[in-house]
Amino acid sequence: MTQTDYKTAVEQLKKYSYHYYVLDDPITTDEEYDILYHKVVAYEQEHPSEIVSDSPTQRVGDVPQDKFDKARHLVRMWSLEDLFDREELETWVNRITKVYGDVRFYCEPKFDGASLNLIYDNGILVQAITRGDGALGEDVTQNAKTIQSIPLSIGYKERIEIRGEVVIFKEDFEKINEERLKNGESLFANPRNAAAGSLRQLDTRITASRRLVFMPYGIGANTLEIKNLSERMEWVYGLGFRNPHMTHLCESADQIETFYHEMRVERDNFAMLLDGMVIKVDSIAVQDELGYTVKNPRWAAAYKFPAIEKLTTLREVIMQVGRSGVVTPVAIVEPVDIEGVTVERSTLHNFDEIERKDIRIGDKVIILRSGDVIPKIVKVITAERTGNEQSIPRPKQCPVCGSELLDEGALIKCQNLSCEARVVNSIIYFASKQCLNIDGLGDKIVEALHSAGMVHEVGDLFDLTMEQLLSLEGFKEKKSRNLLDAIS
Ligand code: IVH
Repeated sequence: MTQTDYKTAVEQLKKYSYHYYVLDDPITTDEEYDILYHKVVAYEQEHPSEIVSDSPTQRVGDVPQDKFDKARHLVRMWSLEDLFDREELETWVNRITKVYGDVRFYCEPKFDGASLNLIYDNGILVQAITRGDGALGEDVTQNAKTIQSIPLSIGYKERIEIRGEVVIFKEDFEKINEERLKNGESLFANPRNAAAGSLRQLDTRITASRRLVFMPYGIGANTLEIKNLSERMEWVYGLGFRNPHMTHLCESADQIETFYHEMRVERDNFAMLLDGMVIKVDSIAVQDELGYTVKNPRWAAAYKFPAIEKLTTLREVIMQVGRSGVVTPVAIVEPVDIEGVTVERSTLHNFDEIERKDIRIGDKVIILRSGDVIPKIVKVITAERTGNEQSIPRPKQCPVCGSELLDEGALIKCQNLSCEARVVNSIIYFASKQCLNIDGLGDKIVEALHSAGMVHEVGDLFDLTMEQLLSLEGFKEKKSRNLLDAIS
């Protein structure tokens, strides 16, 4: 490989990751990427003095830091005033329109993560600073470089601050917690904590493994001439940052309200958690005139979404036995409405987690539910304890078959292969989408077949007859025929 080939290869890798991590639209396979990446690594090992600073190999360092240095933002990072209902929205909008008349409002999602300020100078990412107190934050540059949706270089030479929120996708959050559960580590309460905690890891390799995502929402220090925020943000996306897509210019409180409801409907479909919609005056000149209070800009506000974390009481803990015999504790809570869904149960993961969080029956707890995030107890409010709460003992006997359980620490297992729960759940799993995908053979029907004594193991499914099915409640000719066909 010549030096020219090397530079072309680096550009090619950058293009591949831009399509993958920023546009969500890959243009190559992982294998092709890895082959090229290894060629680049090999060249850099032979020619260390020629390594370019924005080579993708420069994202992960291997020497853990012992602390983070403090660092100052070039321009202060502000908070946002919260609006909770239509009336507050109207008051806020009127305060602006009565002075400035026809202003337009740029609306975008409010991402729930950790804020981060990126300083680019001469086109190179030179520093990444957490929000801190708004003036002074922590220098997390090494960690920010591991975030693939943060460009290491941009095609703009003036010094500029790009601000945004570091988030974890809901599905990655669940995966991280599953992994932590397997390793006997404590779980992250919610994606926000996971993102913030991952950004502040002293070992960048850990940050790199967390699949953090940077969602840009604004610009700090700059010398731009672009006069509207909406155009500035389009320009930022064009530099190689992710575009949140759900943005809109509104001209009145009515339009803002309509767009707010559209975004709320879409909320669960977003890959990351949203906790509201941010409304900003589009004209930079009007923003400058409106200025700031001690804490917030007067030109921006957060129109909050209903909370997905609610306070409730833990009533009881029941035990579920899975197909592999693992006993999972499930919390039964005082029913609460979270965004239109009544939540009354939530997983407690395992007994180690119960002990770590010191969860007791009768406790006031905070529960979280959102689209793909499985309802979970995020926190116990120990300050509210009366003394009547009861601890949750580790079970000794299987709640289903009564046989002695094997306590392996994180996992407690029923070892009885003929335990009804194990048998029924194995058959359910066998018939499920992940396995044979037998249409019409769901939980309820497997349970019915088992309790009627027709199916004791997977193999029995294949000996089922029409007469047997017709003797079951709710089974007529057509349904029975369909099930038999699906099985065969
Ligand atoms: S703008 C000058 N826009 O919310 C305005 N913030 O509650 C400063 N956040 O610290 C913030 N999404 O970390 C803005 N689209 C968005 C945002 C957003 C999330 C966070 C940000 C800020 C906090 C304020």
